[in-house]
Amino acid sequence: MKHVTCAVIGCGVIAPTHIESFIKIPDLSIKHLCDLDLNKAEKLAAQYSIPNCTTDYRAILMDPEVDCVSVCTDHFSHAEITVAALEHGKHVICEKALTSTESGIDAMLDAHRKRPELVFSGIFQHRCEPTNRYLRNLIQSGKFGRILTCSLYVSCLRTNEYYQNDAWRGTWANEGGGVLINQSIHHLDLLRYFFGDIESVAASYDNFVHQGVIETEDTIAIALRFRSGILGTVIATSGSKSVTWRSGYTITGTEGFMEYTDFIPSYVNFVDSSLKEKVIKDFSDCKLDDALQVSKGYYGGGHPAQIADIIDAIRNGREPYVSGEAAAGTAKLVLACYESSRTGKWVNL
Ligand SMILES: NC(=O)c1ccc[n+]([C@@H]2O[C@H](COP(=O)([O-])OP(=O)(O)OC[C@H]3O[C@@H](n4cnc5c(N)ncnc54)[C@H](O)[C@@H]3O)[C@@H](O)[C@H]2O)c1
Repeated sequence: MKHVTCAVIGCGVIAPTHIESFIKIPDLSIKHLCDLDLNKAEKLAAQYSIPNCTTDYRAILMDPEVDCVSVCTDHFSHAEITVAALEHGKHVICEKALTSTESGIDAMLDAHRKRPELVFSGIFQHRCEPTNRYLRNLIQSGKFGRILTCSLYVSCLRTNEYYQNDAWRGTWANEGGGVLINQSIHHLDLLRYFFGDIESVAASYDNFVHQGVIETEDTIAIALRFRSGILGTVIATSGSKSVTWRSGYTITGTEGFMEYTDFIPSYVNFVDSSLKEKVIKDFSDCKLDDALQVSKGYYGGGHPAQIADIIDAIRNGREPYVSGEAAAGTAKLVLACYESSRTGKWVNL
């Protein structure tokens, strides 16, 4: 098995999840950590016995031993770092939301097109969780009949302090948005994963409870038309003190209906009652391996599974389960929603 040497760029909240996911993989070492704040890198390096720390990610890219970098910085900087890493021949694991601008997304995809032998994946760990994979198969095997509508809500609380603690959060320049691009992008991505590409969107956002603290939206409502003809809606807010973290989908097909709350079916009905029983049983058998649970509950347990898949893709010269292109599609969807709200028009994707 080829030894893989990794580095993590950005040593904030999500970095330990990448480090712990790497640690679980045999024949893999983490050689460098990087953060603009050297203290953050050094603290993590001490905790996980990682030998080198730097504030300059380019120094890592110059190291010929490094095969793969995880990009765990703010959204805007993902593009510059990813492009540079691909140009230096490194495989790239880039955290969501890939990045915050259309030109940045295109530059990342262009850089990968020039180095197709490299693996480039965007983190959408929920695609790797067993219940979500099962639900996708169920939908795509036609068990709901013709799907007519789907809806999604994400309700959570992000306090003023959360936004004030890190300068990039809640800014158009560096986060690229608010509750949609950050907290809800996972759920939006699963809409594409479950139901396929989206043709057009109409959205309206506002800042209801974080006025004077963030310049981006804390609340958004979206209407969606999928290429397959499904009609959908999304509502998301980070402004309610009554709910820390809650998400849910409804799926209505001609033959089946489901409410799917925090990635667990909370209500299931199929015209075929034997199918209903089978689906309920199958879901209860879909347990995430305990060994995969490394991070905050609502991050899910998908990071280790996705990162293990990416390293396997590097070793075997294959596409990762979540390609950079797939992640780019969801980032572009987010940007289309913002454009629609600003212009007051439907935006085609
Ligand atoms: N997949 C998930 O569930 C999940 C969860 C949380 C965060 N994230 C994503 O992870 C990324 C980081 O989020 P976070 O919450 O860890 O942010 P954070 O602010 O806690 O950490 C980001 C770190 O990157 C560093 N940084 C910024 N620019 C840099 C550069 N050019 N070189 C080196 N270091 C640099 C900052 O100093 C900071 O320490 C974001 O894209 C975020 O959306 C994903």
